[in-house]
Amino acid sequence: MLKLTQSENWERLQALAKQHQQTHLRDLFAEDQHRFERYSLPVQNILLDYSKNCVTEEVMEALFGLAKDMDLTGAIERMYRGAKINTTEDRAVLHTALRNRSNTPVFVDDVNVMDQINDELATMRRFVDKVRSGEWLGYSGKRITDVVNIGIGGSNLGPKMVSEALSAYAGNTLRVHFISNVDGVEVAEVLRPLNPEQVLFVVASKTFTTSETMTNAQTARNWLMASAFDERAVKNHFVAVSTNTEAVAEFGIDTGHMFTMWDWVGGRYSIWSAIGLPIALYIGFDQFEELLTGAHDMDRHFRDQSLEKNAPVILALVGIWNSLLHGAQNQVILPYDQPLKSFTAYIQQADMESNGKHVVQSGERVSYQTAPVVWGQLGIDGQHAFYQLLHQGNVIVPADFIGSVQSSTPVRGHHENLMANFFAQTEALMNGITEDQVREQLEGQGLDAKEIEDLLPHKVHEGNRPSNTVLLDRVDPRTLGALIAMYEHKIFSQGVIWDICSFDQWGVELGKTLAKGILAEINGDSTNAHDASTNGLIEYFKAQRS
Ligand code: F6P
Repeated sequence: MLKLTQSENWERLQALAKQHQQTHLRDLFAEDQHRFERYSLPVQNILLDYSKNCVTEEVMEALFGLAKDMDLTGAIERMYRGAKINTTEDRAVLHTALRNRSNTPVFVDDVNVMDQINDELATMRRFVDKVRSGEWLGYSGKRITDVVNIGIGGSNLGPKMVSEALSAYAGNTLRVHFISNVDGVEVAEVLRPLNPEQVLFVVASKTFTTSETMTNAQTARNWLMASAFDERAVKNHFVAVSTNTEAVAEFGIDTGHMFTMWDWVGGRYSIWSAIGLPIALYIGFDQFEELLTGAHDMDRHFRDQSLEKNAPVILALVGIWNSLLHGAQNQVILPYDQPLKSFTAYIQQADMESNGKHVVQSGERVSYQTAPVVWGQLGIDGQHAFYQLLHQGNVIVPADFIGSVQSSTPVRGHHENLMANFFAQTEALMNGITEDQVREQLEGQGLDAKEIEDLLPHKVHEGNRPSNTVLLDRVDPRTLGALIAMYEHKIFSQGVIWDICSFDQWGVELGKTLAKGILAEINGDSTNAHDASTNGLIEYFKAQRS
């Protein structure tokens, strides 16, 4: 297979990046009245505007050429068809099958996985209906009022983000809570107001070995026992989502109350599997299916649409271009929808755990930048915190602005105010404000010449800061499904072009292994197996506690 650095288009892009060092977005807009139409596209209920990036027809052509050189289209086909593209774990990658509403067959090792998926969805629906209707009862005969998901990483971030995002669709049937941190503060805080007789715990862990989750699940079980005094209550109050039947049984959860997932579902792509159970419990199964449908709509777009009109591919390529042109090592994600308050954290895992890799598929060290540092928060809060750096700092941070035409909870006058800020920020980042404009402003305010000259450099905004605008119709289940899938496929496309394995996460293992040994040391074993700093810190910690 061709190496990225051997691609002619890669070389061409390096040259174009040099050539465009001085190009200003402001000038690109002045030169082309149709720039917005040229560099924006609608996809399902989403408008993607990428015109505020320093791209030209020539740059886009080279970027699409690069995607072709790296056989992105072939890679997409291989993923959808169940090829084992997670090469280091020898697994297929089939989150697209989980939401394959067309139900076309998908084979892994000659087995049509759609049968298993459909069975599991039907089981989930029956269970969700039982709990929501009040047919499923707690040990004392009371109905369930609260669902507590215990999981971490992909077994937490997705269900949490989507439940928050779709709370307007939830009604009053059930409340949902999330425990991920092994810091006892979280479990204590979440459980404090709850009545054990009416809580359903969903222990979500693909492996069912993750120590944070197992510790929290054990504490939750003890909490239940302190009220039920009968092991049989576990059956009414605990269900599991996992691939590890043995470990689920060993924990004491009835495997008849276990929901299955498969090794071809990556943790950070698992929201579409039974890991999404808390979402379905919260908003009802029909709405959960709408989420799947939205993702499937985007899957069809990604697979069927030409690269040139393909939203996830364009997002991926623009990201690669920004890292070439600006040396950008960051990507900030700025939702302007309160319901999307955890969207950045979700995409952060999806992107950084997938593409934060230092070797290419062959194992050779990668010679270019892979995943950027993804960060951000609700944009409107960010404006009063870190936007100063985005506007005038000496690093270029490409930004994705995500907002909606309609608020999911309209309150008179608020959404217009919010969106005015949304549009203003992308304009300000792009255009900036020149010396002449600042001077004119200050003169208008009556400052004298000396005052103006002193203030001038501080008030200039150079602009030329790239951003994408992602404008949703509204945050509803279908649109949200499409939005998440768009980012998943962006990440996939970048991984293919960078020639890395996007579906393993070996980088998280070392810390986990060391923590196991250190826990034994904290609990009594001697501390001398580490470097002086780590030994010293553990000893200090132990001494201060004794
Ligand atoms: O530590 C990384 C990770 O393996 C993630 O990829 C995953 O989402 C998370 O831990 C949780 O894993 P599990 O679902 O097996 O508990």
